[in-house]
Amino acid sequence: MKKLLIVEDDASLRNTMTTVLELEGYQPEAVASTREALDKLGSETYPIVISDIYLDERTGIDILRAARERNPACVVILMTGRGSMETVMAATEGGAFEYLAKPFEMAHMIDTIKRAEKSLEAVEDDEAASIDDLPETEMIGSSSKMVEIYKTISRVAPTDATVLIEGETGTGKELIARMLHRNSKRAQHPFVPVDCGSIAPTLLESELFGTLKGAYTGADRDRMGVFEAANNGTVFLDEIGDIELGFQLKLLRFLQEREVRPLGSPRAKKVDVRVVAATNRDVQKMVEEGKFREDLWYRLNVVRLTVPPLCERPSDIPLLVHYFLRRYNERYGLDTIITETGLKAMENYSWPGNVRQLQHMMERLSILASAARIDDAAVKAAIQETASRDASDTLADTEAEQIRRVLSATSGNKSRAAKILGIERKTLYRKLERMGVP
Ligand SMILES: Nc1ncnc2c1ncn2[C@@H]1O[C@H](COP(=O)(O)OP(=O)(O)OP(=O)(O)O)[C@@H](O)[C@H]1O
Ligand SMILES: [Mg+2]
Repeated sequence: MKKLLIVEDDASLRNTMTTVLELEGYQPEAVASTREALDKLGSETYPIVISDIYLDERTGIDILRAARERNPACVVILMTGRGSMETVMAATEGGAFEYLAKPFEMAHMIDTIKRAEKSLEAVEDDEAASIDDLPETEMIGSSSKMVEIYKTISRVAPTDATVLIEGETGTGKELIARMLHRNSKRAQHPFVPVDCGSIAPTLLESELFGTLKGAYTGADRDRMGVFEAANNGTVFLDEIGDIELGFQLKLLRFLQEREVRPLGSPRAKKVDVRVVAATNRDVQKMVEEGKFREDLWYRLNVVRLTVPPLCERPSDIPLLVHYFLRRYNERYGLDTIITETGLKAMENYSWPGNVRQLQHMMERLSILASAARIDDAAVKAAIQETASRDASDTLADTEAEQIRRVLSATSGNKSRAAKILGIERKTLYRKLERMGVP
């Protein structure tokens, strides 16, 4: 049973709400003043708080702050007979999940709470997962090219062979690396991804091999490297083409000896890790140009998996569309559908960003679809926007409305909203400011 705090000064509304919520299986506690509410919030944690805005010398906004301070994941629903959605969002910095305009039907209130709970679960899932992945994503696709990939995965996963995964951005290289790990005898041990492209070359060595305290100024403690931390597991070296020539030799040595020597340490340690590497650059060509060591290339290239871009397997598009639509409907508590013409429009697009781009577009479309229907006009508009979007601030005309809907679906999580809208977070802040939402 879920605890719930009601803050409402009107006794008859307070009693009705309490009764209805009890019948609905909640465990409501009701108070009439901000002081009582703040007392309660000081000593207990409530997953859900429903509060009137205009109460006494303090307001529902104070309740909201206190509730969030106590429990950042708390769902707060504000009620008022006055003021527009805008003033409420402004007052709460977009942080209130929902807004109930008085008078409201009890059924509407229940719906609102249910929706808030769902989105709360989604946020929790979201925090558990890495930045933009759905949790436990399956590999979708039944084109002959994908079937070949699955076959290779099942053949090489159980071995300790080093695997090199090549493919354009967003084709699923990391997903494949995780599947290799999950289907190996190492599955119970760590899978550690390292983005070689985003770690400064000078830090990559200590990241991978570790550092002893005092190895250099600033090394104030021993740091275990990834290879040691992932012992018995799998290390995923992403963007392998970005590794500097100088460090390539060290990596080669490691692949030969399977020993790590942390910076500043006289001793080497044996480790047992499997290495899976990925790149979206043409490393073969880099070898020819002398930018990548040939010997390292051969070491990494024991098994090579090349993931085809989405445009070479169009029959996978409808499967991916339906899969992501289902996942996002679940995540955001929606019932969005896609029409036949909408699906056709998805199939006709070239998807330069591959599955990742398709996934993000489905997230946006599922939330923003008018009347919960994604038709070809909606798809074409979304494609147009991705195509024309650059560093500029552009969004469609209805952007204020879109921003509100996305913020509401993400419970006011601005970084997530910016990602769904496909704009920079600071751009979103600027737009919110212009909309009068601080
Ligand atoms: N076949 C697939 N089925 C389901 N989801 C997929 C599939 N391929 C990719 N994805 C999803 O698309 C997103 C991008 O995939 P991933 O991160 O594996 O791409 P990548 O090839 O590593 O891209 P990059 O080169 O940009 O790092 C992820 O959210 C992943 O779960
Ligand atoms: Mg990747």
